[in-house]
Amino acid sequence: MFARQQIRSMRLQQIAGNGRRWMSKITIQHLHGMKRKRTPIAMLTAYDFPTGRACEAHGVDITLVGDSLAQVCLGYDATTRLTLDEMIHHCRAVARGSAAPLLVADMPFGTYHAGADDAVRNAVRLVREGGAEAVKIEGGREVVDTVRRLTTVGIPVMGHIGLLPQRQAILSGYRVQGRSAGDALGLVDSALALEDAGAFAIVLEAIPHAVGSHITRRLRQAATIGIGAGWETDGQVLVWDDLMGTWGGHKAKFVRRFGDVRGEVERGVKAYVQAVRDRSFPSDSESYEMPAEEAERFCKLTEIGNDQP
Ligand code: KIV
Repeated sequence: MFARQQIRSMRLQQIAGNGRRWMSKITIQHLHGMKRKRTPIAMLTAYDFPTGRACEAHGVDITLVGDSLAQVCLGYDATTRLTLDEMIHHCRAVARGSAAPLLVADMPFGTYHAGADDAVRNAVRLVREGGAEAVKIEGGREVVDTVRRLTTVGIPVMGHIGLLPQRQAILSGYRVQGRSAGDALGLVDSALALEDAGAFAIVLEAIPHAVGSHITRRLRQAATIGIGAGWETDGQVLVWDDLMGTWGGHKAKFVRRFGDVRGEVERGVKAYVQAVRDRSFPSDSESYEMPAEEAERFCKLTEIGNDQP
């Protein structure tokens, strides 16, 4: 058994030993079984140890270190700015927290476009250095050769079609895709080609519900994971910060806020600053004491200006 696998299985045992329910390792076979049994797959993005830990602890099936990392964590204006080294750095932190869910990492813009050899080299770094178990790449027919090559060398690939954030400049923004019958057929064709090339799952982003459910029915094995593709896909994915309401920027139609972290952060930071200003923080119970006789001795020493014991 490889060292990393050993560490993962030790971590799974530790989790079980901590009295939580036994969390079995999610595999690709397991995900395909979920598609067959129509059990919805829950995928969520994570960017660091705490968010990875939360995915692990609360039943997420696939943890995705998405390149949305560029915008929601690193403050870039587009995913195209993210480097492979930045992705590996964050992926490694997520891997330390998320052992049971399948761990998928986005291949950043420019890391799989210059040919299959280049894609293999970069995907191997994500697996070896980042701890990813699978990679995700954006695109349809044009990336099929790369998907085939990666799966041939043993790196599982998740496809991503519909709205492709890495191509937002050429698409003139973040727009719904597949609204015309011709475009929708193109998406179906891409999904079938990706499955044929070996993709184990495909993200469908911002496409009409009817197209999402049609593709889901047409794929024999590959699971569809929707984000703005209706409720009939095999699973759903959301960006952590959209789901948690971490910040208040643009909210896409497909986003549902399941938390109000921004409100909590605002309340917490304001209360902290106020408590510092009015000296109510720290209280006596949040401070350390000296033994009484040492305090008395200390007073005497400082009173006579002699701080030698
Ligand atoms: O980068 C990301 O977070 C993604 C999801 C939106 C699927 O690709």
